Amino acid sequence: MKFMFDTANIEDIKEYKDIFPITGITSNPSIIKKEGKIDFFNHFKEIRKILGFEKSIHIQVVAENCEGIIKDAETILENIDNKIYIKIPVTEEGLKAMRLLKSKGVNITATAVYTKIQSLLALETGADFIAPYFNRMENIGINPREVIETTANMINKYNYSTEILTASFRNIGQVVDAFSSGSQAVTVPPQILHDSLMMPSIQKAIGDFTLDWENIFGKEKSIYNL
Ligand code: E4P
Repeated sequence: MKFMFDTANIEDIKEYKDIFPITGITSNPSIIKKEGKIDFFNHFKEIRKILGFEKSIHIQVVAENCEGIIKDAETILENIDNKIYIKIPVTEEGLKAMRLLKSKGVNITATAVYTKIQSLLALETGADFIAPYFNRMENIGINPREVIETTANMINKYNYSTEILTASFRNIGQVVDAFSSGSQAVTVPPQILHDSLMMPSIQKAIGDFTLDWENIFGKEKSIYNL
């Protein structure tokens, strides 16, 4: 299993990277909008400094035609670093660009996946990751579990090295379902992971254990200062 953060927020990345077992971060223009008008290339260089090269950084292109997508990708690779995963939406132009970039050894994440056929076509480009949009599919009555399952079955059946990196989550139940359906990786806003451990039942259990301990050993004592 791989967890990534679906964020470009430097403070969140710094705060949560040592808590959650992340293997990278993903972004798209809407995620970048939340950060305001950032110094785009330096912002991601800073994220690279924080994460190092053993973790992956996925940045989405903006251009919609193949020529523009290639130019966006080359600019990202030149101005940030050449290990960046280029996120490309699975459209006709996107598929063409993915194939061209893959033939040059560029890391590719096929994104904006809502349907099985998008996944299957992206597999054929040799993309490293495919990103189905879990919550967005649910919003329009498409079952994301089926899309993930079909993709996972084809990966296993034909031995593709591509991994499913499910994205677009609103709650932790969706995240768990993505893994159960065959996703190898998920990208989640750190807040959703944070909230998942803040549930009252967990806090109550810990509070009860602390009270029981304090009843015997007193308030100031932990195991380390017995
Ligand atoms: C991945 O980076 C996707 O672009 C992203 O998760 C989409 O998520 P949203 O539906 O929350 O915008």
